[in-house]
Amino acid sequence: MKSTLLALLFLFTNILLQVDSFAKPIDLRCEYLHNPLGVDVSAPRFTWRLDDVRRGAAQSAYQIWVGIDSMGLLQGKGLAWTSGKILSSQTLVAYAGKPLPAFSKFYWAVAAWGSDGQRSVSTTAHFETGVMYASNWKGAWISDTRDVKIKPAPYFRKTFDTAKKVKSARAYIAVAGLYELSINGQIIGNHRLDPMYTRFDRRTLYVTHDVTTQLQQGKNAIGVLLGNGWYNHQSTAVWYFHEAPWRSRPTFCLDLRITYTDGSVETISSGKDWKTALSPVIFNSIYTAEHYDARLEQTGWNLPEFDDAKWKTVTYRAAPSTNIVSQLMHPIRNVEEIEVKKMSKINDTTYLFDLGRNISGVSSLRVRGEAGTAIRLRHTERLNEQGRADMSNIDVHYRPIDNSDPFQTDIFILKGRGEETFMPRFNYKGFQYVEVSFDHPVNLSASSLKGYFMHTDLPQLGQVNSSNPTLDKIWWATNNAYLSNLFGYPTDCPQREKNGWTGDAHIASETGLYNYDGITVYEKWLADHRDEQQPNGVLPSIIPTSGWGYEWGNGPDWTSTIAIIPWNIYLFYGDAKLLSDCYDNIKRYVDAITAQSTDGLTTWGLGDWVPVKSKAPVELTSSIYYFVDATILAKAAKLLKKPADYQKYSALAQKIQNAINAKYLNAETGMYGNGTQTELSAPLHWGLVPPILRAKVAANLAQRVKADNAHLDVGLLGTKTILNALSDNGYADLAYQIAAQEDFPSWGWWIKNGATTLFENWPIDAKSDISMNHIMFGEIGAWYYKALGGIKPDPAMPGFKNILLHPHFVEGLEAFNVRFKTPQGELVSSWKKTEEGIRYVLTVPPNSSATLRLDVQAGQTVSNKGQVWPSEAKNGFVKNLKSGNYELLIK
Ligand code: BGC
Repeated sequence: MKSTLLALLFLFTNILLQVDSFAKPIDLRCEYLHNPLGVDVSAPRFTWRLDDVRRGAAQSAYQIWVGIDSMGLLQGKGLAWTSGKILSSQTLVAYAGKPLPAFSKFYWAVAAWGSDGQRSVSTTAHFETGVMYASNWKGAWISDTRDVKIKPAPYFRKTFDTAKKVKSARAYIAVAGLYELSINGQIIGNHRLDPMYTRFDRRTLYVTHDVTTQLQQGKNAIGVLLGNGWYNHQSTAVWYFHEAPWRSRPTFCLDLRITYTDGSVETISSGKDWKTALSPVIFNSIYTAEHYDARLEQTGWNLPEFDDAKWKTVTYRAAPSTNIVSQLMHPIRNVEEIEVKKMSKINDTTYLFDLGRNISGVSSLRVRGEAGTAIRLRHTERLNEQGRADMSNIDVHYRPIDNSDPFQTDIFILKGRGEETFMPRFNYKGFQYVEVSFDHPVNLSASSLKGYFMHTDLPQLGQVNSSNPTLDKIWWATNNAYLSNLFGYPTDCPQREKNGWTGDAHIASETGLYNYDGITVYEKWLADHRDEQQPNGVLPSIIPTSGWGYEWGNGPDWTSTIAIIPWNIYLFYGDAKLLSDCYDNIKRYVDAITAQSTDGLTTWGLGDWVPVKSKAPVELTSSIYYFVDATILAKAAKLLKKPADYQKYSALAQKIQNAINAKYLNAETGMYGNGTQTELSAPLHWGLVPPILRAKVAANLAQRVKADNAHLDVGLLGTKTILNALSDNGYADLAYQIAAQEDFPSWGWWIKNGATTLFENWPIDAKSDISMNHIMFGEIGAWYYKALGGIKPDPAMPGFKNILLHPHFVEGLEAFNVRFKTPQGELVSSWKKTEEGIRYVLTVPPNSSATLRLDVQAGQTVSNKGQVWPSEAKNGFVKNLKSGNYELLIK
């Protein structure tokens, strides 16, 4: 009996396993999120992957169903749309059914047919539409005052009754500023710094929360605490955010939409019947810090029974913009809790905490002390010679008007009852050290303080490790710097500026996209670009902006974000939506550069920022970006079927290329300009060098690098190109030599000096431009994938439908492993030098293919699992691979 049962179980598991391996669609996402709420787009995008490890696994057809009946979907019950069976390997499909109503939950499922014709159906996923149309908002915009100078953050509350049984409830909250929402005393969600920063007067975001479980039968209370964020910038610095055209006292609009089990719907909204009072958050600045006076706490302020008789009535406000848009992206969170590595007592009133690594985020302090004790927490990235917290590298652009708002310094005043905890709600900082001082004796231990690494919480896609620990540390530090600079928009640094510097961001965008699932943030940030673009096509150098940045730093070397990022998203996701959304903006932008250029050349730009020593001519680097933009525009025109534009901008790209080469290229010697690293590598990397001269220019570059002792001599723009230009043109060993250096100037030099993030300047003792958490030199993070792992998207089949694979088994490195989750599934590219030869393990994800190229020496063979593979090309080793696992030996 027992054995029959076991046999049956075995059979059953086998059937299950078998069914599972048949092209089952998994990882169903809508708008690149799992089961999102608040979907407001008219044609939501659906994506999935195939769970199929068989060699050659591919999707031959799919069908998608979207409807309101989770059980009857496939039978066509309650259907909003079905695609019908479509013969296609595509796993990205936009909704094409009848218009979706607001506030509605939809279920969806996909069937995929494998290459063998077997059908396999996904489990059911869902999404929910949001407010959809401005006219659906019922709430009013409210606040406590108009006075931008008032410092304490305002509380708002309202009570209401639910007589019937609640089936589901959603809170839709649109805010100019920041908020913390609570229901019956419970803070809703684990997001931080919501909503994301936008140009509030052009686009204001709302967030959707599922609050079903927080509601109770009978009396309920909603509480809202509003923070200033970038909306009411009270601190003063050189970028004039305190004079932003949108600036005002924070305001919000809320609809709490309750569906009862009897099907009826009730909406509790923000309005005149809300009450307001000032909170214990006595000051908050996104830029500097937060001050909290626990003596002002009003226990139970967000509970139903709280007596709010002394609270004021609210005031109506105009909506900050007429464009209220759902925030559909991965939120900012306290992603990592970091223990203190070391604590030292400096004197009776001062302690120093060291997290052991540099982060963006906040600290949280747990403490007991007398009422009225004022505790100051100064957050810095470094220490001075006396071992005290040193701000001097990061407060340089801050222009305080008095000493009430010290930089990166939280102030916490104790109420004097038991253990008290403080963590800022509406601010973050860049720091490793926290110097805590107080005016009454307080006892602290290392566990009194914790650090929280905060950033946009993106799923990680890529993982790298190698036989070189420094290389691995650089990769980790690069990711730390990337994430430290991601708060719903990419920033330059989390301390000194928190500005959306365009140049830094496009340089780092590939690093971001190989390592993280960044599409939602980039789509949002490019919408910020569209909001900021002037009618004449010009963009500001920082986005969003208060108006600063139209006069300085906004040449094509920085603001080409408008073209480069949508193009990278297209390459990495195979999704042309962002490119299409930005098409007119790219065009206006390219036309704006044309208006500022002479005969195909432009000098508009900053050039190779923060160089080691040599600086390429600005005209060369800016004109190259002009060329890059015109080229992307021409390709986009072709893709989006705009033949006239395609012709016009292809011709423009050609004109720019000719102009650059006529002025800077010596066709005889294969030299650009003075032949510095950036002057040679930028034309190579961006495709300006005539094919016939590529080898010569590359050889010149290699020679230059050798003369520079295989060390960097570039600035921001050159870091993008130097490693790639070498490894793409036959000098991967030399590129690796640069990447693996451990003395000045190099990434490894920072690591050797204790860096856990990337710096803004190459010398560690530089006197200016010395933030210790900048992502701008972060291209190396992408280069690992491109050159060592050898993974590149194929522009002809984007989204890694076909993968261009060309790993370099560089001299000096024994092993390199990369795992990268493409939209189709996980790609593994992993090699190791052994006595028999190079072992190369490769997984091509299901439903994709790869074009493998290997640098094989004369006399060497390539075999897979013991079987010798002939090359499919005349020159070098090339093989087209189907999905599946390969174990190659190259000897
Ligand atoms: C920022 C940079 C930025 C640069 C522009 C700096 O202050 O921190 O990263 O790109 O200005 O010149």
